[in-house]
Amino acid sequence: MEICQPKLYNKAPLPFVGQKRNFLKAFRTVINNHIQNDGAGWTIIDTFGGSGLLANNAKHFKPAANVIYNDFDGYSERLKHISDTNLLRHSLLDALGDSPRGKKLSKHVKSKVQSVIQDFDGYIDLQSISTWVLFSGKQVSSVDELFKQTMYNTIRCSDYNLADGYLDGIEIVSLSFEKLLPTYQTSPKTLLILDPPYVSTKQGAYSLDNYFGMVQFLTLMKLVRPPYILFSSTRSEVLAYMDYLKDNDVAAWERLGGFDIVSQISRINQLATYEDNMIYKW
Ligand SMILES: C[S@@+](CC[C@H](N)C(=O)[O-])C[C@H]1O[C@@H](n2cnc3c(N)ncnc32)[C@H](O)[C@@H]1O
Repeated sequence: MEICQPKLYNKAPLPFVGQKRNFLKAFRTVINNHIQNDGAGWTIIDTFGGSGLLANNAKHFKPAANVIYNDFDGYSERLKHISDTNLLRHSLLDALGDSPRGKKLSKHVKSKVQSVIQDFDGYIDLQSISTWVLFSGKQVSSVDELFKQTMYNTIRCSDYNLADGYLDGIEIVSLSFEKLLPTYQTSPKTLLILDPPYVSTKQGAYSLDNYFGMVQFLTLMKLVRPPYILFSSTRSEVLAYMDYLKDNDVAAWERLGGFDIVSQISRINQLATYEDNMIYKW
């Protein structure tokens, strides 16, 4: 069988809040150290695939592995319509005219922006549009909600590349993790990549009506077994949960404990930082 190796990406082709670009170096090191050669015989599941960036990297470095990207948000659909998204960006650039960058749009310009979006007969990529006209990081889940927001001129200055080959050779599925993971509970040579939404953060940008709360988190942890790579943050209390298991649940600790940790400090502003972690056990 011909082995398909996608081009390597260092960031997702289209905007995606929460993509793991800052952890790619550590992620690549872990999979290269633990999965030999081209990954033949392995299955790698990007359970909370988001932008598919980790699946892309996994398949690039282990092209003979069966890499599964769980695209719960329909990101691959967004990728298919990059040409439309570029077209809409051009029309919006015209509508914004000489509105100052980074500044709030006047009523008149905002209504021009709304008309352009309403009249556009191609694909509407809300997440991308949000990065062009909303305050940094703000995301919405419908056009109506978009129009209710204060708008700014933060439009991107260049086209997006067409994401050629980004998902080459990768199997795409779209399932809730509760449906996806049980199939692989006892499969040998199957790596679980787990980057769930942080339980305690706002998840407005992510899929749809499915809130990832404490019950989902506990359900997930029941389905985790090594080898796994789990991303977490001080905000999501995964390490505190692991400590709890050590003291209170011997069986779960035997299954999940004894992991390695790579930590990274990120700065929110001058006063506040938070720590992101990549926990892995082979
Ligand atoms: C932190 S993001 C993953 C980011 C990804 N690793 C990347 O680099 O782009 C978490 C993802 O989990 C998805 N998600 C939320 N609930 C889920 C569920 N029940 N099953 C599977 N995925 C879910 C969210 O929609 C979001 O895409």
